[in-house]
Amino acid sequence: MRRILLFGGNAAIAAYLDVLHCCCDVHGVREDDGVAEVFFDGDLPPLGEHRVTAQDLPPEVAGDRRTGLEADVAIRVSDRILVRPPWVGTPAGFLGLEIVVPRGMAFGSGEHGSTQAALLALDELWPSPPPARALDVGTGSGVLARFLQLRGAGSVSACDVEEPAVAAARLLLGDSDVRLGGPDRFAPERFDLVVANLDARQLATAWEELLARVTPAGTLVVSGLRPAEQRAFEGRMQSEPIVRRERLGYVALGWGLGGTGA
Ligand SMILES: C[S@@+](CC[C@H](N)C(=O)[O-])C[C@H]1O[C@@H](n2cnc3c(N)ncnc32)[C@H](O)[C@@H]1O
Repeated sequence: MRRILLFGGNAAIAAYLDVLHCCCDVHGVREDDGVAEVFFDGDLPPLGEHRVTAQDLPPEVAGDRRTGLEADVAIRVSDRILVRPPWVGTPAGFLGLEIVVPRGMAFGSGEHGSTQAALLALDELWPSPPPARALDVGTGSGVLARFLQLRGAGSVSACDVEEPAVAAARLLLGDSDVRLGGPDRFAPERFDLVVANLDARQLATAWEELLARVTPAGTLVVSGLRPAEQRAFEGRMQSEPIVRRERLGYVALGWGLGGTGA
């Protein structure tokens, strides 16, 4: 496992960490103002135009049993939702819903603002009764699909274009139907709730397929947008989002399509 220090502005570090999360197996990150210590496996992606510098740190000294996993903590998304890896205990007194996700090659440990914003939006607009059929597009580790299961969706399906993500999600989600590919892999099926945490470009490409997967009275949640990008997506719908949640510079939007949607 490699250990590096990243230096730069907080926004530049956050943007570069996004790239690292996608390209490498990130085991842990400790962030402080203007610096981040990162534990990971893989090759460092080019720094390119990111305004960060990286410094390799020597391996841990003998006798220090740190592996990087010690940097992991339970992530309290809200008073009601917690995401943690299996090797981190439940914080004392927490009585809400716990999503236990082992860290691996797939995106979705719960650290990222886009994951947290999606969880907050889903929690806020969770339909009653729960959706009979739900779909998570771009499932990564399966973290959002696991939330859908825990909140009582009748059946949960998921897809991702990356094979390691599909493998990770299948492990996490048990009997769920997890497919390699985009939302078109489920055509012509429709779901009462569809969630997709993708970046703006990926969302734009997948948009028509996403809408086509939602039942006419269903619920759509998208996350992964930067605040400056959300207007363009709001404009794609005939109605205002019923939920908008922002976390760590990422926005999630949710629509109830019943009678007013796409
Ligand atoms: C930002 S991660 C989200 C992971 C997880 N759902 C979460 O919320 O933490 C986006 C995932 O979407 C996948 N992806 C990108 N474009 C996709 C598409 N058109 N269809 C399905 N998956 C896609 C990527 O491989 C990646 O695993």
